[in-house]
Amino acid sequence: MSAPLWSGRFAAAPDEEVFAYGKSLGVDRRLFDDDVAGSRAWAEALARAGVLSAADASAIDAGLVAVLDAVHANPTLIANADDEDVHSFVERELVARIGDAGRRLHTGRSRNEQVSVDFRLYLKRRIPEIQRALVSLVDAFVHQAETAGDAVMPSYTHLRRAQPVLVAHFFLSHAAAIRRDVDRLDMARGEADVLPLGSGAIAGTAYDIDTAFLAHRLGFSRVVANSIDASGDRDFVATFLYASAAAMVHLSRLAEDVIILSTEEFGFFEIHDSVATGSSLMPQKKNPDPLELVRGKSGKAIGMLAGWLASMKGLPFGYNKDLQEDKALAFEAEDLVIACARTTATAVRTLTLRPETTRQAASGLLLATEVADYLVGRGLPFRTAHEVSGRIARDLYGSGRDFSSLSLADWQRYHQLFDDGVFRAITPEAAIAARRTPQSTNPRAVAAALADVRAWVKGRS
Ligand code: ARG
Repeated sequence: MSAPLWSGRFAAAPDEEVFAYGKSLGVDRRLFDDDVAGSRAWAEALARAGVLSAADASAIDAGLVAVLDAVHANPTLIANADDEDVHSFVERELVARIGDAGRRLHTGRSRNEQVSVDFRLYLKRRIPEIQRALVSLVDAFVHQAETAGDAVMPSYTHLRRAQPVLVAHFFLSHAAAIRRDVDRLDMARGEADVLPLGSGAIAGTAYDIDTAFLAHRLGFSRVVANSIDASGDRDFVATFLYASAAAMVHLSRLAEDVIILSTEEFGFFEIHDSVATGSSLMPQKKNPDPLELVRGKSGKAIGMLAGWLASMKGLPFGYNKDLQEDKALAFEAEDLVIACARTTATAVRTLTLRPETTRQAASGLLLATEVADYLVGRGLPFRTAHEVSGRIARDLYGSGRDFSSLSLADWQRYHQLFDDGVFRAITPEAAIAARRTPQSTNPRAVAAALADVRAWVKGRS
């Protein structure tokens, strides 16, 4: 066991099992690059404050680069190390290379702020990677919306047929949700974008550290306002976990839509063989396992957010070791969202539409709103028109027919305002064309929305 950084105070060595229990290197070694980056900047700030000689500062910098290169060349160096955490690992490796100069690096600094700066740097560089995975999913929606062209399908409320929409409109609805997730991750990144260094262990540092320089040097846009708050603040982790959980909820809802709309019962889409699995017993089966896993894993993402909020809620002010638990959660959330977004993008990109089935499903009694609007267009109050249309729908439903089975005389038996324009008005295509607002399923609106999403993907790629 490597001696901990704080062994001077203790007469007895730590209990091996208990020390191993508290170690975080296995998890926080993901922060290695960031820890080195933060330490290089800190050494520079110490030199500028006149705390380190120029010679020591450049020895530290060269030593840190040597540690960085050594680990990149041989990752087992850190994977097999038994230090308490990534900060201890870097410092030990540095001192092993440059001796006493390395022992000056931690002047005026605490691991409490070090872990915070590392983690903030990490999220700032990794969030764009998560966003890339989500953008490629949005690109898959664009592909499907383009391929669908003017194909129509029913939309649903209460999982009952509601109104006809363009299939492209359906895909773009999911694109809209995922775009919000990308925006939310921007917000999470913005919250992480604050420099905590200069906070010391809790009270601030006693050296003349130029925090504005440090922020600029490390690419932070601002500096924390309060050292006590900074040492115990992991709100940025909670925000990241929320952004991840929200994205997973959207991936899960999409997965559910694809799963249900590709069943034998719906038959709107066919899932590609390459993203399906078979049954060991039932030869006919083609199961959407990868999408079911996306749906299942979303529960975990929600649990991690709820768990982290619970971990934070009882903490007294300043740093507490409970905070160490944040990294395992955030790393898992990161891996989860990236893997699920990529899998979902492949599943969406390879979906096949069955346009005859969706058109057929969009042609029945879900045109009842059009019937009501038709009468409104001829002067009837909407509430009355709703009742007339409802009566027709009830009769048709009872006899297993739909609006296309009615003759003009049949229509006029329900209301004399029906004329022969009714045959053109009561079709899925007419219903879709009749929608007017920019967010509607009107073909021109959908074309504009598609162009907007396409441009957004391009801007993000
Ligand atoms: N591994 C610790 C964490 O993740 C680093 C900070 C340690 N600070 C301390 N006072 N023990 O939170």
